[in-house]
Amino acid sequence: QEIEHGPSDEGESQVVSTLPTREGWWKPFVLFQGCWLTPQAAESVKVAQTKFQPRPDDIILATYPKCGTTWLKALAFTIVHRSRYDVASDDHPLLTRHPQDLVPFIEMPYRYIHPLEELEVLPTPRILTTHLPLALQPSAISTLGCRVVYLCREPKDVLVSTWHYMNKVREDFHIDLEMTFEFFCEGFSIFGPIWEHCLGYWKQSMVEPDRILFLKYNDMMADPIKHVKMLAEFLQVPFSEEEESAGVVEEVVRLCSFNNLKSLPVNSSGAGDRIGDLPMENSAFFRSAKVGDWRDHLTEEMAKKLDSIIVDKLKNSGLVL
Ligand code: A3P
Repeated sequence: QEIEHGPSDEGESQVVSTLPTREGWWKPFVLFQGCWLTPQAAESVKVAQTKFQPRPDDIILATYPKCGTTWLKALAFTIVHRSRYDVASDDHPLLTRHPQDLVPFIEMPYRYIHPLEELEVLPTPRILTTHLPLALQPSAISTLGCRVVYLCREPKDVLVSTWHYMNKVREDFHIDLEMTFEFFCEGFSIFGPIWEHCLGYWKQSMVEPDRILFLKYNDMMADPIKHVKMLAEFLQVPFSEEEESAGVVEEVVRLCSFNNLKSLPVNSSGAGDRIGDLPMENSAFFRSAKVGDWRDHLTEEMAKKLDSIIVDKLKNSGLVL
């Protein structure tokens, strides 16, 4: 299988060209350090692994794609910067900027020359995002003790969300739900397998609970107020009694809620290229946010099969997704 390579770095591309490759998604994926990535992403991750320079007070938001990254970015940004940007103000950055653009990724956009310099100029404390499994993170993140917030989601809902999203990545690419399901069950999905992703962060969060906060999308949807407070405490900017009685926590929840963000013109129109050569409509990040949406898409048989794979993969870990 021919893999496209960037012109700029032959040496690095040779490493990627020897990796196991598999087709089926919008472009062939390579298995890089146990994780399925596009070749461009693999190149970019290699650069980030060696060149990214974390700061001890960096806050890292880590997710498997489609687990609520956009929501977590909005929440973390709003909570951490609330002394600078009043949550209730008419000119809060979330009202005019897509949450994806307020908090950058460490490993994206994927270009052969990774734009790490753009991260260098950000003021401290930086909030950064990654889709990388823990094992693939630049190692200095853990050595320096950077705090990590990990958000996971019920895998059947992740599958359905992924399917909708992947059918938007390119006009000339279509994948049906059955194929998406098969790939997902085999662990062949972007940044997959999903169970490896969740398990890596889960196990480490048991070892270092003060450094890694492990959150679940459905729990956050069920009680956002509790989770916003928890996030603020973990990020070392707890809400004061005055803030709590003034309703600031509720205001954060409202500002970052799906319905509010989805309705804003900046999120409902236009497009941006955040991934690298893959422009995506801004609205693609706000679909239905329905807990249990898989019930409208998967057969009982599909649901049972994926459930049993996940139970098997997570057994003895204590993690239930
Ligand atoms: P659905 O496709 O199930 O609707 P990510 O941000 O990691 O790409 O995840 C996208 C998923 O999060 C989508 O799920 C999207 O609708 C949902 N989402 C986006 N913003 C949200 C918010 N503010 N609150 C809850 N869910 C949100």
